[in-house]
Amino acid sequence: MASDRIFNFNAGPAALPLVVLEEIQESFLNFKETGMSIMEISHRSKAFEEVINDAVARTRRLLDLDENFQVLFVQGGASMQFCLVPMNLIAEGKSADYVDTGTWSTKAIKEAQLQKKSIRVAASSEDRNYAYIPRDIAFSRDAVFVHITSNNTIKGTQWADFPQTGGIPIVADMSSDIMSRALDVAKFGLIYAGAQKNIGPAGVCMVIIRNDMLDMVPDTLPTMLNYKTYAAKNSLYNTPPCFAIFTVQLVLKWLEETVGGLAKMEAINRQKAGLLYDYIDSTDFYRATAEAGSRSLMNVTFRLPNENLEKQFVQEALDNGLGGLKGHRSVGGCRASIYNATSLEAVAALVDFMDSFKRDHG
Ligand SMILES: Cc1ncc(COP(=O)(O)O)c(C=O)c1O
Repeated sequence: MASDRIFNFNAGPAALPLVVLEEIQESFLNFKETGMSIMEISHRSKAFEEVINDAVARTRRLLDLDENFQVLFVQGGASMQFCLVPMNLIAEGKSADYVDTGTWSTKAIKEAQLQKKSIRVAASSEDRNYAYIPRDIAFSRDAVFVHITSNNTIKGTQWADFPQTGGIPIVADMSSDIMSRALDVAKFGLIYAGAQKNIGPAGVCMVIIRNDMLDMVPDTLPTMLNYKTYAAKNSLYNTPPCFAIFTVQLVLKWLEETVGGLAKMEAINRQKAGLLYDYIDSTDFYRATAEAGSRSLMNVTFRLPNENLEKQFVQEALDNGLGGLKGHRSVGGCRASIYNATSLEAVAALVDFMDSFKRDHG
């Protein structure tokens, strides 16, 4: 590790693979012998076209997407998708089901309601403070999609298995776990993910949409809010966030060529999360907040005996080169986000620090 870098447990924007940052640094002033930075070249140039096409091709290979799916790059973050999904996919007279598993799903629901779309909250885990993922949900048979948040960044829960929907396509916000595990895309009609946790920097959102969902989009939508615009123009209808897409391309290259694909990434992520949860479960000093069976492999949320100790923990951790461990401001506590680019070595260092903090304060 470069000596002045810390172990980064930020929830997003989050750690990027060091080799990716170094590759950006090396190519920054003279991208592919153009004599210009990637930030200075035309989005219509051959050099950039290769970048975006390679990012799409790698996404297709990593997720094993067939020609039925389109890969799009959209600005506005995942929050923009909360609005675009119902706008594009719930036509007049149609309805969709949503599952409420905390802040981000609640926001997605609100955006559909703001547009006066017909939606039903088919299940919610609000009754136990969103500490679990609901199971055995009865979905409406005529729903055009079922919306879920596959990983709940704030509450530290994750769908281990996706719900049985009786063939209704799932629309998933995968902002905080995209490309972190092997995925069977057959159940999904649309997947979206803000890049800034697992696949890149802020500024771009990846949208993977199945052609039959694209067919549902009305032509009357404003051009930039219509998924068909992005699909028809390879996300190049207007100037896209070139630098963010370039970084995504490099992260996907790292995933494919260095890590060796999603099954391998998942094995590493399971090892990292296992190490941390096993340690937390072995003590009375730390307490995991998500219920067993619903725990996230990406965001490990936990409490200490009191808030003062939590504050001290976060500060002392930072003093020891372990950053970003404060829980989301809406829930407090502590959170270690251990996305793809956070190494096993970083998690082992965290566990060591947690143990010494416990010995000093327990
Ligand atoms: C699961 C999830 N969805 C949506 C968002 C919002 O993303 P953005 O800031 O890109 O709009 C976040 C941000 O942390 C998130 O974790």
